[in-house]
Amino acid sequence: MKKRFNDKVAIVTGGASGIGLAVSRALIAEGAKVLIVDINAEGAERLERQLGKHAKACCADVSSEVDWKMLTDQVIKWRGKLDLVCNVAGIGRSGSIEDIRLEDWDAMIAVNLTGTMLGCKHGVRAITESNGNGAIINMSSVGGLAGTADLAAYNMTKAGVVSLTKSVALHCAVQRYPIRCISIHPTFVDSEMLDPVAAAAGIDRATLVAGMTKQVPVGRVAKPEDIANAVLFAASEEASMISGSSIIVDGAQLAGIPSGHPA
Ligand SMILES: NC(=O)c1ccc[n+]([C@@H]2O[C@H](COP(=O)([O-])OP(=O)(O)OC[C@H]3O[C@@H](n4cnc5c(N)ncnc54)[C@H](O)[C@@H]3O)[C@@H](O)[C@H]2O)c1
Repeated sequence: MKKRFNDKVAIVTGGASGIGLAVSRALIAEGAKVLIVDINAEGAERLERQLGKHAKACCADVSSEVDWKMLTDQVIKWRGKLDLVCNVAGIGRSGSIEDIRLEDWDAMIAVNLTGTMLGCKHGVRAITESNGNGAIINMSSVGGLAGTADLAAYNMTKAGVVSLTKSVALHCAVQRYPIRCISIHPTFVDSEMLDPVAAAAGIDRATLVAGMTKQVPVGRVAKPEDIANAVLFAASEEASMISGSSIIVDGAQLAGIPSGHPA
C-alpha cells in the first residue's frame, strides 16, 4: 500500500523530544525523509540512530536566521528538495502579568514566535526554490485561542502563531505557491515540557498530569502521538483544501463549560 508521505522531505523542529519526536517517527513510518532539528544535539542524534537512513539530525537554534539558512541548505543537499516544515520547537515558562520576568518573555518570543516566523520564511523559500509541494505546520496551543492567568507570555506567543499562520497561508495562496499553512492547538500533552513546570511547583510530573487531567473534559491529557496524528493529517493530501486555519486537539477543553450544575 502506498504510504501517505512517500517521496516527501520534511524538516521537524523540536524533533528530539515530545511532540516533535512523535511527529518525526510518524512521518518516517509514512514514508517521509526527515531532518530532525533540535538545539539538543544528543537527543536528535539518538533519534537519528533509532530511525535509520530516512532520518538525519541537525543541531540548530530555531531563533537564529543563520541556522535556518544552514539547515535549509543541508536538507536540499541531503535529499534535493523540501516539501514540509513542522515548526514544533517551543519553550514554556510560567508567569502572570504581575510576576512575568522580562527574560522569560524575551526567551519565549525568540523561540516560539521568531523561531516559527523564520521556519515559515525559510520554509516557503526552500520549498518553492526546490520545486517542493506541501505544507507548513505551526505548533500553537489551546493557549493561543484562550487566556490562562499564569501563562500570560506563553499564550501571547501562541496567539501570535495563529495570526502568522493566516498571513503565511494567504501569501502562499495569492502567489499560487503549492504550500498550505495550518496551526495546531493541543491541550496539555504529557511530555518533557511538563518537567520544569512540575519542578517549579515542587511536585512530580505524574502529580501535575493528574491535576491537568481534571481540566480536560474527555478525562485524559493528550499523548504526543495524538498531536502527531493531527499534524500528519494537516500535512497530507487529504487536507489539500485546508489552509490558514486552526486544528484544535483538546479533548473538548475549549468547547465550553462542562456543567452548569457542578456538585
Ligand atoms: N506539552 C504541552 O502540554 C503542550 C501543549 C500545547 C502546545 N505545546 C507546544 O508543543 C511544542 C512541543 O512541545 P513538547 O511538549 O513536545 O515539549 P518538549 O520540551 O518535549 O520538546 C520541545 C523541543 O524543542 C527543543 N527546543 C527548545 N528550544 C529550541 C530552540 N531554540 N531551537 C531548537 N530546538 C529547541 C527542545 O530541545 C525540545 O527537544 C511546543 O511548541 C509547545 O509550546 C505543548
